[in-house]
Amino acid sequence: MREISTVGVIGLGTMGAGIVEVFARGGLTVVGVETTQEFADRGRAILQASTDRAVARGKLDEAGQAEILGRITISTDLNDLAEADLVVEAVPEVMSIKHDVFGTLDGIVAQDAVLASNTSSLSITEIAAGTAHPERVVGMHFFNPAPVLKLVEVITTVRSDQAVVDGVVELSRRLGKKPVVVGDRAGFVANYLLFGYFTSALRMLEQGHVSREDLDTAMRVGAGLPMGPLTLVDLVGLDVCHHIGEVIYGHTRSPMHAPSAMLGRMVTAGLLGRKSGRGFYTYA
Ligand code: CAA
Repeated sequence: MREISTVGVIGLGTMGAGIVEVFARGGLTVVGVETTQEFADRGRAILQASTDRAVARGKLDEAGQAEILGRITISTDLNDLAEADLVVEAVPEVMSIKHDVFGTLDGIVAQDAVLASNTSSLSITEIAAGTAHPERVVGMHFFNPAPVLKLVEVITTVRSDQAVVDGVVELSRRLGKKPVVVGDRAGFVANYLLFGYFTSALRMLEQGHVSREDLDTAMRVGAGLPMGPLTLVDLVGLDVCHHIGEVIYGHTRSPMHAPSAMLGRMVTAGLLGRKSGRGFYTYA
C-alpha cells in the first residue's frame, strides 16, 4: 500500500475535528473539508479549543500547538483532497450522503489512495459497494473524544484488500492508537455491546427502578468506568445514540437493542445532551 503522509478528513463536526487533531498530532499533513464556510469555521474552532485546553493544562506548549495547527488546512472543496493518501469521512450518517462523497472522491484521489469511513453503525460493505474500487474501502472507527480514546475499530468487508487493512492498522499504531480488526456487522463490536448496555440503562430509568444519579454512580464506581451510562449518552449526543440504536435494532432485531421511547421523546424535545446544554443532566 502507498505510504500515508497526507490525509483528508471530510466533515468537521465533533468526530471529524477530533480525527483531524489525531492525524496532525501524529505528524501527518491534514486537509479537512466541510460543506460551507460556517461549518469549516466551526471545525477550526473545535481544533483551536481542544489544543488550547492542552496548552492550559501544560500538556502542550504554544510552539507545539502552532506546529500541530500548521499541519492542518481547512477547505470547502473536495478537489483539495487530490494529493491525499488516505481520506476518512465523518459526514452525517446517511447512506446516500456517504455514496455521494465516496463517488466524488473516486474521481479526485489517486487509484491507490485508501478510503475510510468513520461511520458508527452503517454497513461498510454497502458504502464500499457504491464506489469504483471497493477493495480500498475500510471502516476506521474512532471513539469520542477521538484525541483521548485509544481504540480504532478497523472494519473489513469481503472485498477489502488485506494490504489496505494492514496499512490502516499500522497507521493507527503510529498514531498511538490501539487498533482492532472487526468484521462488518451492525454496531461492529464496541457499539453493538455499548448500545445494548445504554438501552438497558434507559429502560431501568424509564421504569423508575433507580434515579439517574444512582444509576450512573453504580456503573462508574461499581464497574470502574470513567462515566456512567447517562453521562456518556449525554456526551455522545442523544440524537446520535437514538440513530445508532435504531440502525442496530433495524439490522438485528435483538431485544437488547429495542429502542427506548424515552430517548426518542427527549430527542424530539431537543434535549440532545451536552451539545444542546441539556440531556439527562443540565450543562452550563
Ligand atoms: N477533546 C480533547 N481532549 C479532551 C476532550 C476532548 N473533547 N475531553 C477530555 N479531553 C482530555 C483532557 O484534556 C485531559 O487530557 P490530559 O489528561 O492530557 O490533561 C483528559 O482528556 C481527561 O479529561 P478531563 O480531566 O477533563 O476529564 P476526565 O478525566 O473525566 O475524562 C473523558 C473525560 C476522557 C471524556 C472520560 O470521562 C472518558 O473516557 N469517558 C468515556 C468516554 C467514552 O466511553 N467514549 C465512547 C463513546 S461511544 C463512541 O464514541 C462510539 C460511537 O460511535 C458513538
